[in-house]
Amino acid sequence: MTASSTRSKTAALMSNYGVRPISLVRGKGVYVYDDMGKEYLDFTAGIAVSALGHAHPQLTSVLQEQVATLIHTSNLYRTPWQEQLAERLQVLSGLDKVMFCNSGTEANEAALKLARRHAYLKGEKNRTEIVSLPKAFHGRTMGALSITPKPQYHEGYKPLVPGCFTPETYEGAVDIISENTAACIVEVVQGEGGVNLVPPATLHAIAEQCKRVGALLIIDEVQTGVGRCGSFLAHHQFDLQPDIVTMAKGLGGGVPIGAVLAKEDVAAAFTPGAHGTTFGGNPLAMAAGLTVTEVVSQPAFLAHVSEVGAYLRDAMQRFGTEVSGLGLMLGMTVADAKQFVAEAAAAGVLLTAVSEQRVRVVPPLIIEKIDVDEMVKRLESLKA
Ligand SMILES: Cc1ncc(COP(=O)(O)O)c(C=O)c1O
Repeated sequence: MTASSTRSKTAALMSNYGVRPISLVRGKGVYVYDDMGKEYLDFTAGIAVSALGHAHPQLTSVLQEQVATLIHTSNLYRTPWQEQLAERLQVLSGLDKVMFCNSGTEANEAALKLARRHAYLKGEKNRTEIVSLPKAFHGRTMGALSITPKPQYHEGYKPLVPGCFTPETYEGAVDIISENTAACIVEVVQGEGGVNLVPPATLHAIAEQCKRVGALLIIDEVQTGVGRCGSFLAHHQFDLQPDIVTMAKGLGGGVPIGAVLAKEDVAAAFTPGAHGTTFGGNPLAMAAGLTVTEVVSQPAFLAHVSEVGAYLRDAMQRFGTEVSGLGLMLGMTVADAKQFVAEAAAAGVLLTAVSEQRVRVVPPLIIEKIDVDEMVKRLESLKA
């Protein structure tokens, strides 16, 4: 199978992703290559997905074997790999139960349903509201979109799901979490919102208010999780005890996957038939998840993420201001993010613009300091 040249166009695809000027056809480690043979340092990692980089030997061989064994069966049947990964995530997260789906959006959608149904089954019929934070991003389906307060994403899609509220400030969440709140959903570091670390004191105030009024705390670890921030889940660094955690992105190392994790009494609201998915938890995704978690959960691997993350953060000071984030989830401010990203790509470094002035840097977690040095060398060439 060959990909089309960067210069070719097709009228067959919808236009929702705009113009995509680079056509990537191959990857190895932290490098990807386009159809003209140009090499790029991949500091986007498929939007914080490719935790083990590209063509990782262990992941490749596990997936090859799984493809030759069994790819999909559906949730009509037991899937041993699903049970293994659930048990692994139980230990790594400290939560009790796991349900698999196929993306971050789906995980959040399921979390919202779980929170509402948990209240409903307790007889709290008015406890339906969901509170989210300013600059949050939780996905694009109607539920996830309704807790993603970016006006551009809402245009043309109203009415959104009722009962979803976002205050003007992070601290404002504490004031609107009430006896009618089913759950408040937070990201510890907001990726799409500009790589903003939500102040830990505010996260604690939100958690306390949730506890006081009997609302659930959902932590969206779709982007921050699976070692990205230097701990298996980012909230482990902040002593928070969520009722529900959502995961996706890095968990499959590139194979689509999502997961909702919950405390036992909350998870109990998903009684047989209450929620479901055809693909969620299929053997291929589970084999990927088992391999990625085995590598990423090693203390030495997580220490490596923190160490290289600190090195990368230092390096980024040369090219931008307001460098922020945790571990290998970093962002910086530049004059014109789109232009910076385009020039960086021309110099052989893939980065992502998340707003007009914010650039996100989320390389594969396997990067080494030498790769950061190479990034610096390539970006320095832009200044010449
Ligand atoms: C924090 C967060 N939640 C949810 C999502 C949506 O995940 P997906 O694109 O896999 O549906 C994203 C995607 O960027 C995300 O960063």
